[in-house]
Amino acid sequence: MNAPNDFRRNLARRLLALVAAALPVTMSALSGCVVQESTGGECPDAAPKQACFAWPEDSGPGDAGGSGGSGGAGGAGGAGGGAPVTCPAQAEAKTILEQEIAGTHTMKSDGTFQNGQCCYDTLFQPLCIGGRPFLVNDAPRTADPVRGAFASGARSPEAMAPNVDDLSADERALLAAAWTRDGLFEHASVASFGRFALELLAVGAPADLVARAHRAAQDEVRHAELCFALASNYAGEATAPGPFPFEGRIEICADLASVAARAAREGCIGETIAAAVAAEQLAAATDPAVHAVLRLIAEDEARHAELAWRTVAWAVRVGGEAVRAAVLEVFASLGQGAPGERTPRDPRLAAHGRLGEAEVQEAARRATLEVVLPAVRLFVERLGGGEIRAEA
Ligand SMILES: [Fe+2]
Ligand SMILES: [Fe+2]
Repeated sequence: MNAPNDFRRNLARRLLALVAAALPVTMSALSGCVVQESTGGECPDAAPKQACFAWPEDSGPGDAGGSGGSGGAGGAGGAGGGAPVTCPAQAEAKTILEQEIAGTHTMKSDGTFQNGQCCYDTLFQPLCIGGRPFLVNDAPRTADPVRGAFASGARSPEAMAPNVDDLSADERALLAAAWTRDGLFEHASVASFGRFALELLAVGAPADLVARAHRAAQDEVRHAELCFALASNYAGEATAPGPFPFEGRIEICADLASVAARAAREGCIGETIAAAVAAEQLAAATDPAVHAVLRLIAEDEARHAELAWRTVAWAVRVGGEAVRAAVLEVFASLGQGAPGERTPRDPRLAAHGRLGEAEVQEAARRATLEVVLPAVRLFVERLGGGEIRAEA
């Protein structure tokens, strides 16, 4: 019996049942449905950004020259008067970019070579363990940590105390930093769901979805409290999120296609993977306090993934062709990721819920193949769309 395998199987079953119930017949067979036209412009964070890597692979930035490449469709450039350098095709470039940091790049252009690097226009969705990121211009934004208490009562540092007796000062510092980082992302997820709830109102979503979005925000408050309670215990001093840097404004998107695409990218893919990764952390954690925190987070994140699928299913039912096209574009860009080759597991840190980068990458890859892809395939089939393959 393998708990993460069971978790993935169970979540895949739930999502398939949800998609089947939400889209009971292929969309081409639906008639007389209400069509809600998009009213807003494209949302600001849908703008592609440039992502670059050194090319050829054994060169660093500025090491121009060589004729690297794989016969891809990328653009060619000069390298200081030498042979033209061909950048890898989009599929290969996507794999290279996604090895750098866990997340998904949706490729928007072929590569262009400049100063020893191949650069592509991409939409990047970082994999934020713990839930939905708060993105501003495609970049995740969080508060800074400050000294002080965030939680009280049952989720206070005193009530949620991991056993730190056998840990060295370095291990405690590592664990404090890791749980603080997670806590900041959980705290940012509160903002993300807050914005999502407002966007649901802006696109005329039904009460059920709006209510679930608010409940998800409350879940994220609880996750942040728990992560900061653990971090405070490892640090030996109370740690909390500082003021969230909204910088005076929050963009609320009123374009249904963009809201649906973001829910597909951040929720259907991102939170599904985040839930499965939390289940892997949970399976490794032996400390009782950490185990309790991760169990709750894994269960909640799975429910948040379901909310995203519900939202996208509603949007394609009531939306026009633009909504379907936007969602299909996100799903068509799904990459299965590459197995990581970095830090292996440290069993002493794993007991406290922290895995190595390679394990996180592998957990994300398995979640994509075993949970996200089957749900995506059924979804696309019900839309009357074509075949979806994960790009290796
Ligand atoms: Fe969370
Ligand atoms: Fe979440």
